[in-house]
Amino acid sequence: MGRAGLEAPPPSCGVTVTPGARGLQGRVGPRPQSLAFRGNPPRASSPSASARCRRRCHTMAFVTRQFMRSMSSSSTASASAKKIIVKHVTVIGGGLMGAGIAQVAAATGHTVVLVDQTEDILAKSKKGIEESLRKVAKKKFAENPKAGDEFVEKTLSTIATSTDAASVVHSTDLVVEAIVENLKVKNELFKRLDKFAAEHTIFASNTSSLQITSIANATTRQDRFGGLHFFNPVPVMKLVEVIKTPMTSQKTFESLVDFSKALGKHPVSCKDTPGFIVNRLLVPYLMEAIRLYERDSQTCGDSNLGLGFSLKGDASKEDIDTAMKLGAGYPMGPFELLDYVGLDTTKFIVDGWHEMDTENPLHQPSPSLNKLVAENKFGKKTGEGFYKYK
Ligand SMILES: NC(=O)c1ccc[n+]([C@@H]2O[C@H](COP(=O)([O-])OP(=O)(O)OC[C@H]3O[C@@H](n4cnc5c(N)ncnc54)[C@H](O)[C@@H]3O)[C@@H](O)[C@H]2O)c1
Repeated sequence: MGRAGLEAPPPSCGVTVTPGARGLQGRVGPRPQSLAFRGNPPRASSPSASARCRRRCHTMAFVTRQFMRSMSSSSTASASAKKIIVKHVTVIGGGLMGAGIAQVAAATGHTVVLVDQTEDILAKSKKGIEESLRKVAKKKFAENPKAGDEFVEKTLSTIATSTDAASVVHSTDLVVEAIVENLKVKNELFKRLDKFAAEHTIFASNTSSLQITSIANATTRQDRFGGLHFFNPVPVMKLVEVIKTPMTSQKTFESLVDFSKALGKHPVSCKDTPGFIVNRLLVPYLMEAIRLYERDSQTCGDSNLGLGFSLKGDASKEDIDTAMKLGAGYPMGPFELLDYVGLDTTKFIVDGWHEMDTENPLHQPSPSLNKLVAENKFGKKTGEGFYKYK
């Protein structure tokens, strides 16, 4: 799709708006007669009366102009205050999270455009979505495989792909960004999209650790910018953290909450604080697990009696994983989870928080995490992380 013509977006394609509260209450702006017609009507016969009349006519014209202006600015304000019912979604980033978000949005009746940097990545994303949908269909339509096939085909048909984000956001209701966890890259993306997206379009970031405000600052639509933090794997995990910055309008926040519900998710809200709720608690736990495993090697038991054994760290990663699953009831151990989330993503988060608060022991960098990332071992997605995957 060419970019020409995108500067003038088509009228609110796919947007349904509900009347804002001000509109329902009816009165917006000042009542003109309360200023213009106070007192007795002027008598046109005497010169002073006609001068008074001219003054009053000027006053009326001025008040009328002011009223018209206030009406039009109020209607602009109330237009921007209207809740967006999201029908068309653009998801930027077709990796772990973006593919999942696109899948769930399409499966719940939204039209979706999935954007990534290359056609190869997009082909891989779509293949992953299809496989995931087949699993969903197998369960959901266990009794009726034909209906399951139709569900998969129909859902896939509502996901278009593109390698040029700017060319596809002109009529979208919502942009959900799920690209690399790097503020500069996110800022560059949103700054560009801000020029091409429709006026009503809401921008949301799926960042795990960055402040939404610092991403939104790259745009001129801070009131239509919020956080939508999904969890991995998106088709399975019920939670979405909806983030309202001090600049996010209430209507934008409500639109994002409604969208999360339309996806069948359970939204919770959180202020724009690093890590929001889940990662603020989860990431220090994951890092503490790595530190437990990293601590200096030691010999336990009595080697003279042949009972000595060597431990690298306080416990092996396998034992730490088993302990947290069987002892704490977690579905995955911390190393399994780290590999699943992506070691690159975890490193971005920890490095960012460490930079903001260098003294905090919870956010100290980890040599083994750094080493694995330097070797491009990002976890499951690259075939190796703390564990190897076939
Ligand atoms: N992995 C998780 O468990 C998880 C959970 C919640 C939130 N997040 C957040 O979601 C975001 C994405 O994480 P992920 O795990 O899906 O990463 P990922 O590495 O799997 O995918 C990122 C994708 O974005 C693409 N990309 C990078 N720059 C781009 C650009 N400028 N335009 C278009 N596409 C671009 C990459 O090619 C890649 O396919 C990050 O901000 C991360 O913090 C991750």
